[in-house]
Amino acid sequence: MSFLVISSSLNKGSRSAILGRECYKRLQAENQKVEWLDLREMELPHCDGDSCFGHPNVAKVAELIRNASCIIVAVAIYNFDVGSSAKNLLELTGKSWTDKTVGFICAAGGKSSYMSVMGIANSLMLDFRSLIIPRYVYADGSAFQGDQISDDAIIKRIDELVHAAMRLDKALQA
Ligand SMILES: Cc1cc2nc3c(=O)[nH]c(=O)nc-3n(C[C@H](O)[C@H](O)[C@H](O)COP(=O)(O)O)c2cc1C
Repeated sequence: MSFLVISSSLNKGSRSAILGRECYKRLQAENQKVEWLDLREMELPHCDGDSCFGHPNVAKVAELIRNASCIIVAVAIYNFDVGSSAKNLLELTGKSWTDKTVGFICAAGGKSSYMSVMGIANSLMLDFRSLIIPRYVYADGSAFQGDQISDDAIIKRIDELVHAAMRLDKALQA
């Protein structure tokens, strides 16, 4: 089993990045093999369906994805969907997601956008046969104080996601 936590928001003060980092730390604490990818530190082209695929950073992120059996994606919720940086990553790396176990961590402005991952989850399931972890983390601004997670229920959700990811991924690898 090998894990990859992707922080996909490009915002300098990203809250989903804080949640993703917490997930990464917890996987490390569970002695799991885990990599971290922060898209703020990895310049990627917009997918044009053509020359973008030759960009060297696209090959780098595709390899990170291919090497993981389970991927947790931390996303910003924009316009009742995942932010376009997450969608762009999927467009750029497509088949690398085949047969992965995938979980989501979301940061949103309000409480009403909790089904926003369904579009990307459907694409992952139907295009790439990803197994979507049926437990995910959704936090709005009230879960934070500054750059700290202040809501214990959200910490617990991250913990539950980590354990669900480990359990499902282990079962799939068996
Ligand atoms: C363009 C834009 C669209 C947004 N759309 C939504 C939305 O549909 N639902 C929601 O709850 N929050 C929305 N928000 C608020 C963000 O989800 C919130 O700022 C969140 O913290 C973003 O994640 P990040 O901090 O990791 O970048 C939007 C913010 C922006 C900038």
